[in-house]
Amino acid sequence: MYFNSLNWKIFKFEKVTSTMDVAKDIAEKIDHPIFVVTARVQSRGKGRKGRFWYSPEGGLWVTIVLRGVIPNTKIFMIPYLVAVATAETINHYSCGKSVSIKWPNDILIEGKKVAGILIDSRESCRSDFQDVFIGIGININNPVGNRKDLRDTAISLSEVCKKEYNISEILDFLLKKINILLIEFIRKRSKPDKLFDLWKKFDITLGRKISVDMEGKKIIGRAVDIDYNDGGLIFDIDGNVIKIYDYVSIRILEE
Ligand code: BTN
Repeated sequence: MYFNSLNWKIFKFEKVTSTMDVAKDIAEKIDHPIFVVTARVQSRGKGRKGRFWYSPEGGLWVTIVLRGVIPNTKIFMIPYLVAVATAETINHYSCGKSVSIKWPNDILIEGKKVAGILIDSRESCRSDFQDVFIGIGININNPVGNRKDLRDTAISLSEVCKKEYNISEILDFLLKKINILLIEFIRKRSKPDKLFDLWKKFDITLGRKISVDMEGKKIIGRAVDIDYNDGGLIFDIDGNVIKIYDYVSIRILEE
C-alpha cells in the first residue's frame, strides 16, 4: 500500500478474483473517502452485464472507490466522466491512433475495444451521497490477438503501437485525469454540458443506427443525443423517442 501524488491510498495486489470484490471488502474495513485497488492479474474479472473480463498480466486492472464524494444528483455524470478520463489517457499513449467511445463507455481503437468500464454504486452513510466503485480495465501490454474469442473485437495498446508500456505511469496519468474532472464537475459544479461536450469529441454512437438489447428483445433505431439532465441516451425508434440508460447493451449497426 502507498499514497500517490494525489494522496490517494493505493492497494496493489499480485492476483485477486476481481478488484471490484477486493475494493468492496476493503471499504468495509477502512473509512478513507478515496482509495484505489489494482492487481497484476484477475482470475474472475468482471465485465458489464455479468460478462467475464479477461485480465491476464500486462493490463491495467483498477477499481477506484469514492465514498461520500458524489452527490446523488451527480451520479449520472460518472460513467461519462470516467469515459472521458480513460479516453484522454489512452489518447495520450496511442501513438497518434484515434481513440473513440461507444456509448456509454467502451473505449475503442480501430473499432476494437481497448478498455472497458464497470461502475457500481450504492447509498452512502452520508445521506444524499453515493459510494461509487469505478472499475477500469485497459489492455496495455497483454496480447489479445492470440485469443480466438477476442481478436475480432478487442485489441491492446502494445498491439496498436508495437511497444511496451509502463503500466504504473498510465495508472498515474489516468488517476490525475479523473481527479481533474472530479474537481471541475463535482466540486466546482461546472455545468454538465461541458462534460458531455468533451465526451462527444470521442463519441461514435450519436447519429448512428443502433440495435438495443432490451430484456432479450432487439430494438433498432437511431441514437439521437444525450439528455444533459440525466445522461440518458435519446433513442428514436421510427419517430417514437425514448431514453435508455447504461444498464442496456447497444450495438452500432453498419451504415
Ligand atoms: C466492460 O464490460 O466493458 C467493463 C470491464 C471492466 C473491467 C475492469 S478491470 C478492473 C475492474 N475489476 C473487474 O473485475 N472489472 C473491472
